[in-house]
Amino acid sequence: MSGIEIIGTGRYVPEFIADNDKFSEFLDTSDEWIFPRTGIKQRHISADKPNYYMGCEAAKDALKNAGISAEDVDLIIVSTCTPDFFYPAMSCLIQKNIGAKNASCFDVNSACTGFITAVDIAHKFLAADKYKTVLVVASEKLSSQQDYTDRASCILFGDAAGAVVLRRSEKLFSSFMGAEGDEFEALYCKVHYESNCPFFKDEDEFYNNRFDTFAKKNYLVQDGKAVYKFAVNAMSNAVNTVSKACGVSPEELDLVIPHQANLRIIAKATELLGISPEKVYTNIEHMGNVSSACIPVALDELNKAGKITSGLKLCMVGFGAGLTYGSIIMEV
Ligand code: UT7
Repeated sequence: MSGIEIIGTGRYVPEFIADNDKFSEFLDTSDEWIFPRTGIKQRHISADKPNYYMGCEAAKDALKNAGISAEDVDLIIVSTCTPDFFYPAMSCLIQKNIGAKNASCFDVNSACTGFITAVDIAHKFLAADKYKTVLVVASEKLSSQQDYTDRASCILFGDAAGAVVLRRSEKLFSSFMGAEGDEFEALYCKVHYESNCPFFKDEDEFYNNRFDTFAKKNYLVQDGKAVYKFAVNAMSNAVNTVSKACGVSPEELDLVIPHQANLRIIAKATELLGISPEKVYTNIEHMGNVSSACIPVALDELNKAGKITSGLKLCMVGFGAGLTYGSIIMEV
């Protein structure tokens, strides 16, 4: 099967910066606790702009970088687990706002693994010659789902969007995706509906308490230690699996862009894989965890710095709520 070419990248990062000291103003926490345990110094937060605005800005940046117009886009796939609307899909809002009137649209949600999922789907459409140009956007406003009294979680997350424009190529492409639904309670955000359904008197019982352990309303809930343990193995397994499938060993990779959840998770997985740390790109220090936007934001940082060169063997690997995991090895 043929591969894909990244013809453009883009990103949007909100202006407002919350460094670790800002969290000490309202939580019993400190830079001394956060930085050594996570690798995070600061994260960006979108105070006034909705998620789809960030996605549009990243999309426009990627189209400009690719040198094509929005009307050239045949398909928009958006990855988000923090949408502004249950429906329509965010890809439709982006289509309208950037003027991509010839594009089909849908969203995917595999949480932090979402960019890998979206690129993998894009690859299938491109390889089948169904579409010529696919825009993949990963846009996340994690600040909208944080309980800012939960110091073990809220300090990890930020807001941002990244985008890529993809076309078919004859270069190497291999992917792997997995999920462990049994582990879903390790990381979730439950939707709480406000209902006026006349058929059930106890609305709370009908809608909200069917899973009675899920107490927090519309907030991210996680068992940090369980996710940590899962992540180290999931990342190394995902890379090993895709590496075997395409015959490129981890040592032969030129560049690895992992999901930016915790610097210690990345370091441990890298060590297990025997990959030299200089090949592994991280931006968690200044971005925090921006879920599925982590990888495309990093990709754009590297691309704009001239570091995504033709022929490079790139590996992207992610994990997240689900619990899901996935990886791609491709020749750029
Ligand atoms: O995209 C995927 C998203 N999720 C993840 O990747 C999460 C992966 N997990 C982690 O990164 C780590 O588990 C955390 C950074 C979330 C937490 O680190 P930890 O070393 O597992 O800490 P812990 O939850 O076991 O807590 C240890 C102590 C506790 O105090 P006591 O009970 O020992 O007195 C916590 O209350 O640290 C305390 N603590 C904090 N203290 C200061 C937890 N969060 C903080 C904080 N500041 N922000």
